[in-house]
Amino acid sequence: MLETPKGIHTIRNLPDEKLGQLWESIKVDPALKSQLHAQAVLNFTVRRKIKRSVLPLHGIILLVGLPGTGKTSLARGLAHKVAKSFSATGMRLLEVDPHVLGSSAMGKTQKAVSELFSQTIGEAASMGPIIVLLDEVETLATDRSKLSLDANPVDIHRATDAVLTQLDDLAEKHPDILFVATSNFPEAVDAAFASRCDLILEVPLPNAEACKQILTDCLTRIGEVYPAIGAITASPGFGRCVSECVGLDGRAIRKTVANAMAATTETAANPNTMTVDMLLVAARSSKANRAKGSKH
Ligand SMILES: Nc1ncnc2c1ncn2[C@@H]1O[C@H](COP(=O)(O)OP(=O)(O)O)[C@@H](O)[C@H]1O
Ligand SMILES: [Mg+2]
Repeated sequence: MLETPKGIHTIRNLPDEKLGQLWESIKVDPALKSQLHAQAVLNFTVRRKIKRSVLPLHGIILLVGLPGTGKTSLARGLAHKVAKSFSATGMRLLEVDPHVLGSSAMGKTQKAVSELFSQTIGEAASMGPIIVLLDEVETLATDRSKLSLDANPVDIHRATDAVLTQLDDLAEKHPDILFVATSNFPEAVDAAFASRCDLILEVPLPNAEACKQILTDCLTRIGEVYPAIGAITASPGFGRCVSECVGLDGRAIRKTVANAMAATTETAANPNTMTVDMLLVAARSSKANRAKGSKH
């Protein structure tokens, strides 16, 4: 990892095989992955060659979906995939520090945002092609139509305006930037921001096939250490565990496996004693409790 300027949480040189593993770990419709990959590649091929009056690209892709559906992982993995598509480019991934832009720093937000986009990101882009992760972008591009002026400081409006102006500027000056933004709350994302996105993709909850792949992946990998857990994928009750996971997000499915490993203090101390029934019980309880949790 490289030294990070203000407002940037991490900088990574690309490609980075660890990010490639993240990309592979997310089980979604392969068509979604290839659409995402293709749009990102297009950004770096055509933007420097075709005028913005012809193709008004901003270099922004937005991933929306429920928490835990793999958006952040896909965004990071995408950076690796794109860099692999262009060999020897010196491409880098910058992750914007959410705290600089978040509501806790609202008083200072507008200035911080302007500095971040016009200086930090602009400077980084003049050194070579970059992909910038704007995770949970709703904190940064808040839907102003949902804010009441007296309940929220004018600063929020100004900060959103600042983001939009800077994005327009960067799009004009730097064809070699790709922003990958994510949001758990698409309804909170400012309409003017959404309109600047070149592609908005919804990352769905995993379907039955994806649930099976996530569970299989998780159990098999744990099976490298605890073989009895890996063997659960071949047991007759495995299919019922998969069905029980439909409706859960990918993060919750992986956590369910951990819950099953902690079914008793004995299994926790010796995970090889975990059974397929424990997994089934954990999946049921996970679904019931998450359904309750989401009502609050
Ligand atoms: N579709 C999926 N397939 C496999 N794992 C998933 C999937 N969705 C989420 N996960 C797992 O859940 C965790 C959280 O993913 P993350 O990318 O942070 O989700 P989000 O940003 O949408 O909240 C990761 O460990 C990831 O591996
Ligand atoms: Mg995320």
